[in-house]
Amino acid sequence: MNPGRSVGIAFAGCGYAADFYGATLPNYPWLDVRGAYDVRTDRARSFVREYGGCVYDSFDQLLADPSVDVLVNLTPVTLHHSTTKAALNAGKHVYSEKPLATRLDEASELVLLARQRGLLLSSAPSTVFSQAAQTLIQAVGDGLIGRPRLVHAALDMGALAFMAYTDWHSRRGVPWPFEDEVRNGCVMEHAGYQLSWLVAMFGPVVRMAAHTASLLADEWSTLDAGEVAPDVSLGFLEFADGTVGRISIGWVAPTDQTLTVIGDRGTLTVGDVWQASEPVVLRRRVGTNGKDHSYLAEPEQLPFVVPAAEHRYVDTHDLTVGAGVADLARAAVRDEQPFLSADYCLHVLDVSLRLAAGTGVAETVTVPASTDSKLLGCSIESLATAGRGHAPTSWPTVGLAGEKRRA
Ligand SMILES: NC(=O)c1ccc[n+]([C@@H]2O[C@H](COP(=O)([O-])OP(=O)(O)OC[C@H]3O[C@@H](n4cnc5c(N)ncnc54)[C@H](O)[C@@H]3O)[C@@H](O)[C@H]2O)c1
Repeated sequence: MNPGRSVGIAFAGCGYAADFYGATLPNYPWLDVRGAYDVRTDRARSFVREYGGCVYDSFDQLLADPSVDVLVNLTPVTLHHSTTKAALNAGKHVYSEKPLATRLDEASELVLLARQRGLLLSSAPSTVFSQAAQTLIQAVGDGLIGRPRLVHAALDMGALAFMAYTDWHSRRGVPWPFEDEVRNGCVMEHAGYQLSWLVAMFGPVVRMAAHTASLLADEWSTLDAGEVAPDVSLGFLEFADGTVGRISIGWVAPTDQTLTVIGDRGTLTVGDVWQASEPVVLRRRVGTNGKDHSYLAEPEQLPFVVPAAEHRYVDTHDLTVGAGVADLARAAVRDEQPFLSADYCLHVLDVSLRLAAGTGVAETVTVPASTDSKLLGCSIESLATAGRGHAPTSWPTVGLAGEKRRA
């Protein structure tokens, strides 16, 4: 990936996510960190102390620095559009954290501006460069499972509202900005981690439906339920090559970050798309008989098709975040398009926005009047009320080790 000359990069925003970048930059010694700007000078200072460069006194000073080729935009989501626009107008290539912008028209404006000015624009996430992603994408492309037909994708993180989220800090001690994340919502924060792999394998999404729900909105300590974006999104996706899939994104269900591609000759699974070196597991179809899984061979782990990155962020997830910046910088030197091209990122954003809006058809199911107590009324509320008369059941449970306990 080394383009043969160094590329000057500078950071706007030195908060929680900035440590993901700093920790992975040594993989790309030709990325020359010129400096950083943050409205909180203490954060810019601690960032450059750890990762190099100077502290800029203002964003304008950063933009005026001719040694900066690429701006890495790590500001809060609501500032992505204005920050990226200013950088493009100042003649800088831009790598933006996701999303490119909060609205499709604003993101499209940025893509057009970059094109008009002959600049490159990319957006996170960059997990598509991981060993797991590259190996999966190549295995599907090489036909190891025949023609892909179906994909199951999940980015469920566990019930964040019940976790100790105020204790979470980055390597430099920056707190996890849960209020911003929860306002943005699980889809805008995380859909791209799955979508960027899926679009690379199957082409663009051509038809889709989605539904969202807010289930734990009133469980956050300092936020009103009305400020919280939906915390569950379930989507149906149909891709240009005919593959169809279901995607689940949320922070309600226990952790599940699996991706399984089902083809007519077998299946490929990555157990956790956030772990760069997660094994890619192939199960070949070996038969057509039997009632159970015997049509599939025993799982086999595929050899990775790219070497491991030496430096990673390995706090909760093993990410190669700097790879996206390196991809953009390499493309800028070689006058090519990055893998994460502006159009590709715009499409991923478009699908994410649709998943977040839940624009699929939500049909109301009319339940006929019935004397069956399981079909009382036709609303969830009436079913819940009907259940309230019952004494709570005390369930004996059996632990996994076989030990009996009371719930
Ligand atoms: N938090 C995560 O786990 C995580 C992970 C991956 C990506 N991201 C993404 O990274 C981006 C930043 O998120 P974060 O978690 O680092 O948020 P954060 O709030 O911790 O950091 C944002 C930083 O930007 C600074 N800032 C605010 N206004 C600014 C301005 N006008 N100019 C320069 N700096 C400004 C803030 O002072 C803060 O230090 C978001 O797009 C988010 O989606 C976050």
